[in-house]
This record gives sequence, C-alpha cells and structure tokens, in this order.
Amino acid sequence: MKIINFGSINIDHVYGVEHFVRPGETLESESYSLFSGGKGANQSIALARAGAAVLHAGNIGRDGGWLKTKLKEKGEDVGRVETVAEPTGHAVIQVNREGENAIIIHGGANRCVSEANIDKVLEKAEKGDLLLLQNEVNLVEKMLEKAEALTVVFNPAPMTDAVKDYPLEKVDIFIVNETEGEVLSGEKEPEAILSAMQRRYPKSRTVLTLGKVGVIYAEGEQRIKVPALQVEAVDTTGAGDTFVGYFLAELSRGSDIEQCLEMGVKASALCVTRQGAADSIPSLDEVLNAAS
Ligand code: RIB
Repeated sequence: MKIINFGSINIDHVYGVEHFVRPGETLESESYSLFSGGKGANQSIALARAGAAVLHAGNIGRDGGWLKTKLKEKGEDVGRVETVAEPTGHAVIQVNREGENAIIIHGGANRCVSEANIDKVLEKAEKGDLLLLQNEVNLVEKMLEKAEALTVVFNPAPMTDAVKDYPLEKVDIFIVNETEGEVLSGEKEPEAILSAMQRRYPKSRTVLTLGKVGVIYAEGEQRIKVPALQVEAVDTTGAGDTFVGYFLAELSRGSDIEQCLEMGVKASALCVTRQGAADSIPSLDEVLNAAS
C-alpha cells in the first residue's frame, strides 16, 4: 500500500525574533534561514523517513527545482510534482525565543491545481492506497469528491471558512489540532470536540493533537490518550507535520493505534528540538531509539 499525498511545497523564510512583530512595529530579526517546507511536503518527508511508500503530488514554480530534489531524498515518488508558471509557494515564519512560531503563507504554485492534475494523480491510485490531504492547495474539495475507494486522511491545516463546506463525510481519519477541532465541532474542550466530531462524522475517526499535552484518538466511544514527551523546544515548526507522517507510516504497517500515536508523538518531540520544518524531521532510527 502506498500513501498519495497531494499537498503544498513551500520555501520557508525563517526569522528568529525576540518577540512576534506587533502592529506598526519594525523589528530587526536575530537570525535568518532558508528551509524547505510546506505542510504537504513536510508530511511526505516524514512519511518517507518513517519508511512508508509515498507519492507526493503538488506544484512548484521554476524557482522550486531544489525542493523537488529534496523531496526525492528518501525515495519519494515525485512523478506527479508539476512545474507551473506561478512562483513556488512560500512561508514567512517568525520563531520566538520560546520556539513558538507565527506563519504567513503565500500559496503561489500551490494554488494552481487543476481538475486534470487531480485526475492524473488519482490514476496512480490502487485499491488499499491512502490519500493524505492538508489545506494549503486549492481544490481540496474536488480531491475529496474524487477519492472514492481510497482511505482519506485529512489534516485541515491551515483552517479556513471554506473547509466546513467540503464533503467531509468522505474523510476516514481527521487529524486536527485544538483550533481546527474547535472550528469543525463548534466545541472548545478536547473531550467535547471529539464527541461532537464522532456525532457529526460517525464513520470517521479523529486524532486530536494537543501540543505539549499529547494526543487523543477517538473512534466511536473509544478514546486512546498518549502524553507528549517533555523536551526543550527550539522551533515548533513542522511538529504537527512530523506527527502526521510518523503516525500514518506506522498505520500503513498495520500497527495498533497506540503504537502509531506513540511513534508520532516521539517523532514530533524530536522535531521541536531542531530548527526548520523538513530539515528537523528525525530519521526512523532516531525515533526508535528515543526514550519514552
Ligand atoms: O507546518 C509547517 C509548515 O507550514 C511550514 O513548513 C510552512 O511552509 C507552512 O506551510
């Protein structure tokens, strides 16, 4: 089984700041780095580092060839990464001294997906494959409509008003943080979010990620909680993407849910101890050797 990930590919401009810039303020950054990123690409890299077979689909501009090379690093199939006239998408990321981030994205090439693109990607799908989607490319609603026999995993990040109108009944597994869960469920507390999600989407399962607290998995009445590992955060960018990749890679190996959640939690804990998004995703060996 392979995982088809139709998602964003970004150039990340990362600025270390003493605090996030305030309205009307001009702030000198303490550091600057250029990384590869994009929620989609980060998740594909995490999947591949975790040992899953992954086909990444998405768009870059003519300035993005190096990102495609980076995506190929661990054997990802990039045969469905297209080069379009728009420049590659990018992100402007502030990282403060606590390792928290504030991100602006510009979609660029990521917003140039066509229905023809989607059909071409789905031609590669075989029975039992899993389709992974985030919300940084256009036409996600069409991808959900067309996914049919595939297991669909949706990480609605970044959350937008349009998401509620997507055909979300097609989703088999939601992976949401508290903010995304709150918008989809109308609830604020973790258990209330999960119960509302189960009522609204009774055929789906939900993984709720809670940052420093850990994760909770919900399927019907069942709940599985896995606490986060306590680490010194340097940069939290890409932690959620790392969780998604490691969780799904383990799921694709047929492991039980608790094991999948534990792998995701360990991998994302290692990710936050390093700078950058894609570059901070740990290898499978590092995750296997990490203390619980
Ligand atoms: O989730 C982190 C990612 O969000 C960054 O790499 C940035 O590109 C944005 O898409």
